[in-house]
Amino acid sequence: MMSWLVMRVGAPEGAPPLGWTISSGDPLNTLPLSGAARPAAIPGPRDAGIWPRIHYIPCMSNSFGEYLRITTWGESHGPGIGVVIDGLPAGVPVSIETIAADLARRRPGGDLASSRKEPDTPRILSGLLDGKTLGSPLAIWIESIDARPGDYDEMADLYRPGHADFTTEARYGHRDRRGGGRASARETAARVAAGAVCRVMLAREYGIEIVGWVDEVAGIRADVDPALVESKDVEASAVRCPVPARSATMMEKIQTARDAGDSLGGWVAVTARGVPAGWGDPVFAKVKSLLGAALLSIPAAVAIEIGDGIAATSRCGSENNDVFISDGAGGICQQSNRSGGMQGGITSGEPVWARVGFKPTSTIATSQKTLNRSGEEVEFEGRGRHDPCVLPRAVAIVEAMMALVLVDRMLARRATPPASG
Ligand SMILES: Cc1cc2nc3c(=O)[nH]c(=O)nc-3n(C[C@H](O)[C@H](O)[C@H](O)COP(=O)(O)O)c2cc1C
Repeated sequence: MMSWLVMRVGAPEGAPPLGWTISSGDPLNTLPLSGAARPAAIPGPRDAGIWPRIHYIPCMSNSFGEYLRITTWGESHGPGIGVVIDGLPAGVPVSIETIAADLARRRPGGDLASSRKEPDTPRILSGLLDGKTLGSPLAIWIESIDARPGDYDEMADLYRPGHADFTTEARYGHRDRRGGGRASARETAARVAAGAVCRVMLAREYGIEIVGWVDEVAGIRADVDPALVESKDVEASAVRCPVPARSATMMEKIQTARDAGDSLGGWVAVTARGVPAGWGDPVFAKVKSLLGAALLSIPAAVAIEIGDGIAATSRCGSENNDVFISDGAGGICQQSNRSGGMQGGITSGEPVWARVGFKPTSTIATSQKTLNRSGEEVEFEGRGRHDPCVLPRAVAIVEAMMALVLVDRMLARRATPPASG
């Protein structure tokens, strides 16, 4: 349970309040009043100042970010998916085409993905005028036109292995049986839409470029330099691996697994180039810890590696340290970037880079044993529209989560700059 403060706003003590805000105590992190926090429930004489302390009980956790906060909504086989982005400064140029282009890279379809056909056309419902943000919440809606909730009727009573059916019921007692509900990757369309807006901000204000790619499938690794990888090479590959020879082998592996009724996992890598030194905040808002939370919240994500972190665990310090050198123009840079562009979770000015491990897709066209709600053993075989490997579609989601974390810390840096500016 979280505690929040209800604050009266807009009138001196003794006078009737003009409005209310509910807050964690941080004026930059206010939430709209809802449910149990309704001010009508607060007796009049107690309404002065910051009082009373009330309990705000979030149910599912649908929001992410502190200075830039997104809230996503919608279920896999409902009428649509959407996002509300709050904290965006006024004046950010936003175009439907930019959002649609990123959504197209996450969209299902093609030989290596689910055959669900969603055009993923974004509609902006608020927060934008004349192509620029107003500073008010930017709400984006993506209609689902190829939902087939009936496909899941025969599975409504059983717990699909690797899915969140059993655990969601254990938590909430009632679950959306139409696909994965909120656990489904359909929800991530909303994050990609928000990420597209953030990428525009980062590119415009700092020239930051975020590139993600499929780095490894079933043990086949691309070996890509995060400082040089280009998105045109990523997008030239159906599997989104920028190294053509590796891309071809990965595709073969995925097709073979799919034909055998099976699935594969691997790693998606992401780099953000041009991030200035000095973003990120000790101790719990380090860029690396926020990235951990952001990237591991993606469905099927099972691991994260910051920079060259896994190899670092078996090196000596003398082999692993990134040595500082002069950049030749009066600044400081590093001779290597094994630490993923951060020390102490604060950006160093080198590219911020990380890898996210994804498990093989849970739904497979092979018979598996499981239990139903009555605890009886049943046979279950996945049918219908599923990705044999989630990685090619996950690239846009990983990039979006990187963008959200960076904009959040960019705004934090602006809100509390050092005295020197
Ligand atoms: C882009 C993307 C597409 C996915 N597609 C599928 C799919 O077609 N079938 C499936 O079983 N799981 C798919 N998943 C993964 C499930 O949503 C996820 O494994 C499940 O909800 C359980 O969550 P967890 O793996 O995080 O524990 C996909 C994940 C991503 C990121």
